[in-house]
Amino acid sequence: MSVTDAGHETRWDDSAPTGVGLKPGWGVSPERQQEIVAALSDLAPGTGRLTAGQLRAITVALAARRDLWSDLVVRDPDVRWYLPLHRSNSCDVWLLAWERGQDTDWHDHGGSSGSFAVAEGSLIEQYRVPSGRLSRRRLVPGQAAAFGPGHVHDVAHGGEASATSIHAYSPPLVAMTYYTATDYGLIARETVAIDGPEGGRGRGGADTALARASAHAARLNSDSLPTGAPGIDDLLAEARSGVRRLRPEAAFAALTDGAALVDIRPLEQRIVEGEVPGAIIIGRNVLEWRLDPRSEARIPALARADMQVIVMCSQGYASTLAAASLRRIGLHEATDLDGGFQAWQAAGLPVRPAQALG
Ligand SMILES: [Fe+2]
Repeated sequence: MSVTDAGHETRWDDSAPTGVGLKPGWGVSPERQQEIVAALSDLAPGTGRLTAGQLRAITVALAARRDLWSDLVVRDPDVRWYLPLHRSNSCDVWLLAWERGQDTDWHDHGGSSGSFAVAEGSLIEQYRVPSGRLSRRRLVPGQAAAFGPGHVHDVAHGGEASATSIHAYSPPLVAMTYYTATDYGLIARETVAIDGPEGGRGRGGADTALARASAHAARLNSDSLPTGAPGIDDLLAEARSGVRRLRPEAAFAALTDGAALVDIRPLEQRIVEGEVPGAIIIGRNVLEWRLDPRSEARIPALARADMQVIVMCSQGYASTLAAASLRRIGLHEATDLDGGFQAWQAAGLPVRPAQALG
């Protein structure tokens, strides 16, 4: 089955270099896809990155064309519902339905620009302005919010009536990062490959065109590796062979014997998890420069060949690789905390909330 998209023959199959067009049989008939392509013909070039303004025009135009989507909407009080309406190399377009209490959580769009236009009901968007402050706006039918690649927002159903909206992204959505709102501002929590817009928790996730495109990209990645390259599991096993890693109680005892606990977790993780009192915080990106006895940027009290440095991360994986790197530059006693901060905390050893900067 194929769909003609702005003069280009596009079809959905595993051999396509990138996923274009919608999966046949996925809710939107080929005839309807053609109608949508026709409606977008003057608004959406088939290739290239579209501006926020172009995406706004696309979403406003489609929101006004009820004949193209109103019969497709499903109202689900439990799970936010969505459906892909269109996909090309330049953008993807989605239909979303919202019921009372449904929202997306804070997220970005993985570098894509985007726009969403309300077609029915109302939506409330909270978003981060460039200063870092949070703002909020209510959107009603005919209104749209368009944004560039840095936009972070949380979109929620507003008012009483069911809401419907049209969303477009360029380049097509591939990944989104979720954020936790803290006293320090929004802190990135996790990045997910997406199978749907605005949270990917709606129905229709695993079987969408984007999910297929993501799986295709994953296959390409492993094929392109040079033969014999060790995987991360190999690296980890190599770094752990012949090294005595320390469980929390043993690490705690070593500290009283003069060892140094070095916390390499990023600030975001320390805020969420907490800290160990007395641990020395050194960012992973500067670790070797701070601890190499030959480095001008060294910390003299720590950068000694006989110093027992115990590297700590969150769960005891990144710390293993960091400790191996320290041994390579001559700190032969360097090791890491088995199980990381999480094991330390679980063992009932001292922790405290992350300390505020300045
Ligand atoms: Fe979004």
